[in-house]
Amino acid sequence: MTTLNPRTEASSQATADTEPTFHGAGLELVGLSMAYGSFDVVRNVSFTVRPGTTTCVIGPSGSGKSTLLRGINRLHEPKGGEVLLAGEKTSAVRPETLRQRIGLVFQHFNLFPDHTALDNVALALWKVKGMSRSAARARAEQALTEVGLSERADHRPRDLSGGQQQRVAIARALAMEPEVMLFDEATSALDPELVKGVLNLMAGLGRRGMTMVVVTHEMGFARKAADQVIFMDEGEVVEAGTPEAIFDQPQSARLQRFLSEVL
Ligand SMILES: Nc1ncnc2c1ncn2[C@@H]1O[C@H](COP(=O)(O)OP(=O)(O)O)[C@@H](O)[C@H]1O
Ligand SMILES: [Mg+2]
Repeated sequence: MTTLNPRTEASSQATADTEPTFHGAGLELVGLSMAYGSFDVVRNVSFTVRPGTTTCVIGPSGSGKSTLLRGINRLHEPKGGEVLLAGEKTSAVRPETLRQRIGLVFQHFNLFPDHTALDNVALALWKVKGMSRSAARARAEQALTEVGLSERADHRPRDLSGGQQQRVAIARALAMEPEVMLFDEATSALDPELVKGVLNLMAGLGRRGMTMVVVTHEMGFARKAADQVIFMDEGEVVEAGTPEAIFDQPQSARLQRFLSEVL
């Protein structure tokens, strides 16, 4: 899986940072609750993500982080509460439209193995967005350039490293021109030496104005890249604050214990 020169992983940042800026929208969660059947998994979660900022969500396994992201873009319908995107109730937006406006990048890249990087990015543009094939390919090329992969457009996933495959998945989300990007442990499946390159890419998107909600176990990234850190446990927001407040002055015993286990 890992065939490339690490330099390729690291060098994309220069490319990314010279690209134009994004115009991320604001996101507001108001008392969001989610359940699987009668099992309450997300309880009354409220927080605001200002346009162009990065919010990192941390917390133990099973605390409801993935479910929270699935509620934000309605891959799983919330049980209660509301999510506002640019002030608009997402419950009033068609889910297919919403998922174009809010991109989601998973731990496993979910690329089509038999398609090139370019086609993986272009497919949804003509299938879902209804762009012409030539316009879709042009947009896809641009998105691959934004993630530092323009030279690998013709490679299939198996000929790309895990880090590059994740970049393709990020390019696929970016190509839809989302207003918000959600990341669910996007680097957890990567070989350790490839993690940093993807985190740098994500940090670059944030600096360029993308609004991002990032579920991560990378505490170094959360400390450096987040404007706000949310600590969840058992489906609730236990603490929220700046990285300094969360990491240097945790208030609750639960957060103190979590940090002592992960740091
Ligand atoms: N599809 C599902 N059906 C039933 N329970 C689920 C489902 N997905 C997750 N859960 C449960 O919901 C809780 C929260 O899961 P999840 O949101 O994946 O947490 P995290 O991402 O923080 O690890 C866990 O107890 C998990 O077992
Ligand atoms: Mg999860």
